[in-house]
Amino acid sequence: YKRITVKTLIDMKAHGEKISMLTAYDYTMAKIVDGAGIDVILVGDSASNVMAGHETTLPITLDQMIYHASSVVRAIDRALVVVDLPFGSYQSDPKEALRSAIRIMKESGGHAVKLEGGKEVKESIKRILNAGIPVMGHLGLTPQSIYKFGTYTVRAKEEEEAERLLEDAKILERIGCFAIVLEKIPAALAKQVAESVSIPIIGIGAGNGVDGQVLVLHDMLGMTHEFHPRFLRRYLNLYEDMTTAISQYVDDVKTCDFPNDSEQY
Ligand code: KIV
Ligand code: NA
Repeated sequence: YKRITVKTLIDMKAHGEKISMLTAYDYTMAKIVDGAGIDVILVGDSASNVMAGHETTLPITLDQMIYHASSVVRAIDRALVVVDLPFGSYQSDPKEALRSAIRIMKESGGHAVKLEGGKEVKESIKRILNAGIPVMGHLGLTPQSIYKFGTYTVRAKEEEEAERLLEDAKILERIGCFAIVLEKIPAALAKQVAESVSIPIIGIGAGNGVDGQVLVLHDMLGMTHEFHPRFLRRYLNLYEDMTTAISQYVDDVKTCDFPNDSEQY
């Protein structure tokens, strides 16, 4: 695929090709992620944690999301760029949701938006879709509702919540979402959802029976090191590698090793 679109993703599911997705929040990282062949880049509101150091995703603003998203968009040649609608930018009413989605599309150049929730945000999603803006859903563990849940533990383990989740996924498909993220739910349930809808299901902590996977970039690169849920595979240990490099630099400066004769004019 030359350039990934929402159509491409639906074709991938139809052909059984898995979808790869990672977050990015800035130009330099997005350039690397896109160049390495990722299908989808998510400008996640996890930027609130990863970039800004907040404890939750709630504080990040629409303006800040647009800043991150526009930086990412400038870097990419191939990936589809999906941008999270942050907490407070879509929950009041469908008109507010559409206004926020339009701002993201116009001001960042992103290709689609993502928002959390099922039935309760149905009218907002419809409104955004009616304006021609593709929407990705997000069910299961929805971090913007953390104060309602109280914990970041696995969701939908009980029958009732599982049934509601499956129902929500079908609603999102029916109204026209192009894909859904399922976060931290039992693998068997995620597989059942993926088999029940024709749009791609992208999992994070949702097992291998779904249509694609997403991870937070800084987590999978091992830059964050105090977060180790079972679903996180670390492909590098950048926290240690960067610490070693930086302390070496400090040492080289202190000992006048850096710069040497060939590193000056
Ligand atoms: O904000 C984010 O990074 C996300 C992913 C975890 C799906 O929503
Ligand atoms: Na998010």
